[in-house]
Amino acid sequence: MKIETLRWFNDRLEMIDQRILPAAFEYLSYYSAASVAEGIRSMVVRGAPAIGVAAAYGVALEALRLSEEPSTLRSFDKLRTGGAQGERTEFDKGMEEGFTVLAASRPTAVNLFWALQRMRKVWVSVATQTPQQVAQRLLAEAHEILAEDIRINKAMGANGAALLKDGARVLTHCNAGALATAGWGTALGVFRSAVEAGKKISVIADETRPFLQGARLTAWEMVQENIPVTLITDNMAGHLMAHGEVDAVVVGTDRVAANGDVANKIGTYMVAVLAKRHNIPFYVACPLSTIDLNIATGADIPIEERSVDEVKGFRDNHWAAQGVKIRNPAFDVTPAELVTGLITEKGVILQPDVQGIRKLMAG
Ligand code: MRU
Repeated sequence: MKIETLRWFNDRLEMIDQRILPAAFEYLSYYSAASVAEGIRSMVVRGAPAIGVAAAYGVALEALRLSEEPSTLRSFDKLRTGGAQGERTEFDKGMEEGFTVLAASRPTAVNLFWALQRMRKVWVSVATQTPQQVAQRLLAEAHEILAEDIRINKAMGANGAALLKDGARVLTHCNAGALATAGWGTALGVFRSAVEAGKKISVIADETRPFLQGARLTAWEMVQENIPVTLITDNMAGHLMAHGEVDAVVVGTDRVAANGDVANKIGTYMVAVLAKRHNIPFYVACPLSTIDLNIATGADIPIEERSVDEVKGFRDNHWAAQGVKIRNPAFDVTPAELVTGLITEKGVILQPDVQGIRKLMAG
């Protein structure tokens, strides 16, 4: 089954509502930067590369919205036009606000900022064009970012598949699948590529409390794909490893620091420590757009703290004791020393460090 996490339809962006999967499969429509930012914040779309693609479309949508003829504007947010120059000035002001609202949606996945930076460069490079021309150029760039993401995932998948032996039982945490990207996936892309190459692998999916990306999304994707998958709760991973039931771990990432420290879904660090204890290789599938050379170590990666309601229970069913203090950091950092290899579209960086990462990125 081809999963189109995000798709352009006529004049709008459509995104699968990942909050309600797998109970229901539904697309929601988006027409502005603010609505896309809300879709990212509320986790309609999630996963680092998918967030980046959504943000790129958010910028394009804002340009389309702001460049519409005032009589056909879909929003009360009309431009006060004052000739060609005035029109462009107002347009640029609106665009700047669009960038700001998108940048504030979620803090940890660097792909969001990477995509915004790329869209900004295009916007700046067409300074003399009309808002309508700029909007078309930005839309073309968003389409390119989406297509490129799938190409990168396939290249990464092939590089990662080579690391898995036939029959491997591979554990993963959270969802780094087609749903977390424009398609194919990063960690789950490695599994798809391994199966495509004829390897009989099986997947162990951590449930991934509190948002249940493993139980709801990874398990669903693997079932759709007919890849054997077993669901466990997060606290069962050590038991399975101790009993020799896990051959490798492959996870995705939201941001990798210049020294190779890896931020990913809360609980990943725990899995990495366990893998080290049991001599199990721990791989991170990581497109180059997820490496942040501006951040020296994982200690400087901003970690999102989400609503405590997510920990109280699930959706409207709350089981935590009333009045209890709750924490909800959404990501943790795995030190580079616990990472066996970073699987990228350009190749695998074994025992990642500053030199290895810089060398691969420069090459
Ligand atoms: O909070 P989420 O669901 O956006 O977190 C997603 C993850 O942690 C993924 O593992 C990561 O973004 C990599 S996705 C290819």
